[in-house]
Amino acid sequence: MCGIVGIVGREAVAGQVIEALRRLEYRGYDSAGIATLEHGRLERRRAEGKLSNLQLKLVQSPLTGAIGIGHTRWATHGRPNETNAHPHATARLAVVHNGIIENFRELKKELETAGARFETETDTEVVAQLVSHLMDQGLGPVAAVEAALPRLRGAFALGFLFSGEEDFLIGARHGAPLAIGFGDGETYLGSDALALAPFTDEITYLDEGDWAILTRDGAEIRDIANQIVARPRQKIVSQAFLVDKGNHRHFMAKEIHEQPEVVGRTLAHYVDLAGGRIALPEALPFDFAKLSRLSITACGTAYYAGLVAKYWFESIARLPVEIDVASETRYREPPLDRDGLTLVISQSGETADTLASLRYAKSQGQHSLAVVNVPTSTIARESSVVMPTLAGPEIGVASTKAFSCQLTVLLCLAIAAGRARGTIDAARERALVDALITVPGLMAESVALEPEIEVLAREIAKARDVLYLGRGTSYPMALEGALKLKEISYIHAEGYAAGELKHGPIALIDENVPVIVIAPHDAIFEKTVSNMQEVAARGGRIVLIGDAKGAADHGLDTLATLTMPAVDPVVAPIVYAVPIQLLAYHTAVFMGKDVDQPRNLAKSVTVE
Ligand code: F6R
Repeated sequence: MCGIVGIVGREAVAGQVIEALRRLEYRGYDSAGIATLEHGRLERRRAEGKLSNLQLKLVQSPLTGAIGIGHTRWATHGRPNETNAHPHATARLAVVHNGIIENFRELKKELETAGARFETETDTEVVAQLVSHLMDQGLGPVAAVEAALPRLRGAFALGFLFSGEEDFLIGARHGAPLAIGFGDGETYLGSDALALAPFTDEITYLDEGDWAILTRDGAEIRDIANQIVARPRQKIVSQAFLVDKGNHRHFMAKEIHEQPEVVGRTLAHYVDLAGGRIALPEALPFDFAKLSRLSITACGTAYYAGLVAKYWFESIARLPVEIDVASETRYREPPLDRDGLTLVISQSGETADTLASLRYAKSQGQHSLAVVNVPTSTIARESSVVMPTLAGPEIGVASTKAFSCQLTVLLCLAIAAGRARGTIDAARERALVDALITVPGLMAESVALEPEIEVLAREIAKARDVLYLGRGTSYPMALEGALKLKEISYIHAEGYAAGELKHGPIALIDENVPVIVIAPHDAIFEKTVSNMQEVAARGGRIVLIGDAKGAADHGLDTLATLTMPAVDPVVAPIVYAVPIQLLAYHTAVFMGKDVDQPRNLAKSVTVE
């Protein structure tokens, strides 16, 4: 988490640093800071909270240096106050950091013994103090960084600015992404290409262990063994980096509304419409028919997409699926078949636990398939095959359109697997493809329920606890519904398999707890109705997200019924994502919460 920026520019860089940080705010917004050289002297401005607070400080007290670094923070070590805000500095240098220095306590002790005085509660300050200490012993800035880097443990990316050194910055990558951008007499450092897109379309991604000296003429990149290396320059398509809210009040609203379009775009990439079959955009380096099982790993919402996919792979392709959250997979060290397949799912492609699980799977001789939204991300680059979700940049911290695009790609993969394994014939594949093709239209119809959902949101906003129930693929959707509501409204919400209710959670039901039941009229609808009856019998207030047939059949009093269009049950999760997201969104907006940047969260979770 955290975003870092560095610019060796021709004139005052503070404005550009802020612009780049604005694009990195998705990585954290606990505090922000900038350091520049003012006539060779290090000057910092830092502020608690969002970037706008830092901007105010810069208005009151501008910086004019032509070289600078900046940071937007998601707090790991130390409270999110101004003292702990980056850049951290000594008289010799300032540093910005993304990630965690795991051995900071040990280094801090050593440096304190040598006379260093620490001002913050952060792990980052040890980096500033360590490099400073090495410079006190006579090393120049480059040699000091070279000597310091091997002493740091953990996953991190760093940017250094040195007092009196107007002509260069240093960046280092060790487990967290870092890109260098090349401009006209200017060179940039950033946590991702999105941050640098306003200034350049020419990017180099540092490899693991690389560090680089950036000057106005370019960058000298060294690998982990300190050998000078050439890394490829890539052209980025700036069109893909347009970031605005359009006519919407929040990015999250825009991204929910965009779903019919982006799911359609994703489908067009995976479906041979004329042939009525799935046509994967990449050749697969493995054969689905030869797999004895599939391992899926991911975090948060992406994990729930994987959980839905488990139902699809097992029922359509008769392929057993093992799925776990990546923070567990990575340390569980599950036995994995050589030549088997691990599927990782990630919007950002940078999630530390997912990346570590991917690396573990590769170390076991597994093929890796990544469903990712950011095609230039580390996970995309390290996977043997990438199936992109074409959702476009997702800025709202709560994942919406990336989730529905993940589901779309995963269903296409399950169908392709079914064909390869001979568990579906051409007619069934065509029927599944026909169902998929209806999805964008059905999502658009579901968006039209928004006025009703807005009214319902006012009721949900009064609740302290909310339960979500579902069976089959609606069970992971219940988990996702609860996650979406809690992360942006801060209302406590839990998702359960509807059949599990009577094994404990039913004790929570009373007239104050809304129970949101996700139940398209499918083969197990009647079973879910029985669970709704159990809720009703205990005075629970039911909200049914179902279709007209279900609404007519259940015969119970509900707090509200959101009548969705009739859908083929196979594609229901993709379509039902819309009301779930809209309900969380409007509840949070009604409660006055910051839906795009909810407290304590960040968009890209690059720490474990
Ligand atoms: C919730 C949300 C998170 C992410 C999770 C994984 O709305 O967005 O739960 O899904 O942090 O992130 P990615 O998909 O970038 O690996």
